[in-house]
Amino acid sequence: MKRITIAIDGFSSTGKSTVAKMLAKELDYIYVDTGAMYRAVTLFAMRHLYIKEGHFDKEALLRNLFKVSVKFKMNPSTGIADVYLNSENVEREIRTLEVSNFVSQIAAISEVRHLLVEKQKEMGKEKGIVMDGRDIGTVVFPEAELKVFMTATADERARRRYEELIAKGDNVTYEAVLENVVKRDALDTSREDSPLVKADDAILLDNTHTNIEDQFHILLQLSKDRIYGR
Ligand code: DC
Repeated sequence: MKRITIAIDGFSSTGKSTVAKMLAKELDYIYVDTGAMYRAVTLFAMRHLYIKEGHFDKEALLRNLFKVSVKFKMNPSTGIADVYLNSENVEREIRTLEVSNFVSQIAAISEVRHLLVEKQKEMGKEKGIVMDGRDIGTVVFPEAELKVFMTATADERARRRYEELIAKGDNVTYEAVLENVVKRDALDTSREDSPLVKADDAILLDNTHTNIEDQFHILLQLSKDRIYGR
């Protein structure tokens, strides 16, 4: 059976990773969450105090970028690959609001993007991959057979992220989450290098009022159309 490349881009907290994971599982494809890679670099910068009390020492991060290794390793209990920063599983640490508040600044740095995009291209060489992020259909895999761009209102996305963080036991307010969502939208769409933009040939999916199951079925159908050349 033909194996394809599936690129899922869109705004933060649109549920990209949830549907992408379901799709990868159904098709027996590899799933890669590229946001996790930018988050891991952000965690590295925070731990080495290149980011401290709102101040960011970009030059120090760039001097030490060669020390960063970001890899994925399969977690047998979830069937999904966890992200590792220099051999440490950081899957949980990268999801905090603190990391979310800085990650767009880190993701705007060309040297960081170059490093991670090269890794992403390498991971997709064999096809049979579902990758989600912001620039997958435009920069990483412009030739992907299926490109989807996901969006939803900022309020709805903030509500989803807030509920996720609360369920994990994080002490956050809805207002703080909404502020982060709006700020990240602005930074992600306005940065110079690979801004968040829908590829011309991407299918737009506004999921403000669509549940996960329905989205999954839409994407599965689109994938099968590409796989079987319909
Ligand atoms: O998908 P996420 O919220 O975990 O992504 C975290 C941040 O990383 C997001 O603010 C934008 C950035 N990002 C990016 O610039 N390019 C990608 N391919 C993936 C994420």
